[in-house]
Amino acid sequence: MPYTTAEQCINLFLVSASTLDAQREQLEPFQQQWLEHNAFDASPGQFINLPNAQGHIDAVLVGYDPNQVLTALGAVSPALAAGDYRLAAVPDGMDEKLLLLGWSLGQYRFERYKSQADNGARLHLPEALRDQVQSLQQAHFMVRDLINTPPLDLSPSDLAQACRDCGELFGAQVNVVDGEALENDYPAIHAVGMGSDRGPCLIELTWGKDEHPLICLAGKGVIFDTGGLNLKGGDRMLHMKKDMGGSAHALALARLIMEQQLPVRFKMYIAAVENMVSGRSYRPSDVINTRRGYTVEITNTDAEGRVVLCDALQRACESKPELIIDFATLTGAARIALGPDVPPFFTNRDELSQALMQAGNDSADPVWPLPLVDGYERYLHSHVADMTNCAPSSFAGAINAALFLRRFVDEDIPWIHLDIYGWNNGSRAARPRGGEAQGLRAVFQFLQQRYSA
Ligand code: BES
Ligand code: MN
Ligand code: ZN
Repeated sequence: MPYTTAEQCINLFLVSASTLDAQREQLEPFQQQWLEHNAFDASPGQFINLPNAQGHIDAVLVGYDPNQVLTALGAVSPALAAGDYRLAAVPDGMDEKLLLLGWSLGQYRFERYKSQADNGARLHLPEALRDQVQSLQQAHFMVRDLINTPPLDLSPSDLAQACRDCGELFGAQVNVVDGEALENDYPAIHAVGMGSDRGPCLIELTWGKDEHPLICLAGKGVIFDTGGLNLKGGDRMLHMKKDMGGSAHALALARLIMEQQLPVRFKMYIAAVENMVSGRSYRPSDVINTRRGYTVEITNTDAEGRVVLCDALQRACESKPELIIDFATLTGAARIALGPDVPPFFTNRDELSQALMQAGNDSADPVWPLPLVDGYERYLHSHVADMTNCAPSSFAGAINAALFLRRFVDEDIPWIHLDIYGWNNGSRAARPRGGEAQGLRAVFQFLQQRYSA
């Protein structure tokens, strides 16, 4: 995308209720009048084009809330007239990178199936931040595009292809395990995926230099979740194209690490399946095997995410990393607990909680810890196998799912699990309806701090 030089751009001024008076005094009398006539009071999301004496746009005043960094420009970027803009000044205490990123996040459109032109408003990115902002933007857009793509056009092997395409850009190694090899080596992924005509796979992406510390990323890649034989109702099934959101996050995080050359080495493992109903579907009461060797009694085929993820986590442990991070749209219960905007996370190292929360705050991407309650292990008891995949009651649903996963993570490896929603139910500033990245900036910032070069 060509970036015009800053001088040719229309200036954007961020104005809050408390700076409006001072801003007004800098304007020509006729411009002050113009504000008055248009009842501009600098409320968040309100903007006003200021004419010059020739009737052209001289500058734009944008109302914003100093506590909401992403929405400051994100609220207006889709609505401004075509043209080239620049942020004239960064208000005290505001993070410039997040202000600029907010603009981009607001500009997103999912255009694969619609021929709609964008509004042609472009923001000048200052040299010092350009690469970082564009990298973050592309990672976010990749998550949204992957989630928004309907399952007809995103089979498990299409997801593998998306990983290959991304890996190739940065010289990563991509390996895909499917068919008989998957059945032998990843029996749990195979069990969930075999109900679909579009077979399951395990996608591996490897990147980095030997001298750097190794971390592992894992993602739930359920490209569509019907619930299986424990079939979901229509309303709850409607959004289940987003059930590969965890894998989209893992891939986007991988992309950020590669593009911004974090001094780490990583291996990413994505369990890609379609949870379908057919003569080959796994059944409630089936006992399946896992890569770790534990047997699992399937008490609910709709609790499939933890079943596929457990094989990916086991594979991650075998790589002996110093940290494992997984993303999964794992439970509805996580939303019941914290709502759609704050993903809960779980970790087997309490000392990581504070750092991750802080990174989330600093990157305008809040996440919140939930406990791994040892006492609830009893809910996973099975009479016939080593464990069930689903507790008998719906209490503590997000915790039970995390406890199930914990059984597949070696105790000596620090592990963080994020239970994300990955979706905006309606359009808000900087958050268009549809797929959404959550916890991505938080985790990336956390990693940047932990492994700063
Ligand atoms: N993919 C869903 C979880 C989900 C549902 C995420 C809605 C976001 C929004 C998962 O596979 C699932 O179906 N979970 C069940 C678990 C239950 C059977 C224990 C759920 O949350 O209802
Ligand atoms: Mn499910
Ligand atoms: Zn699911």
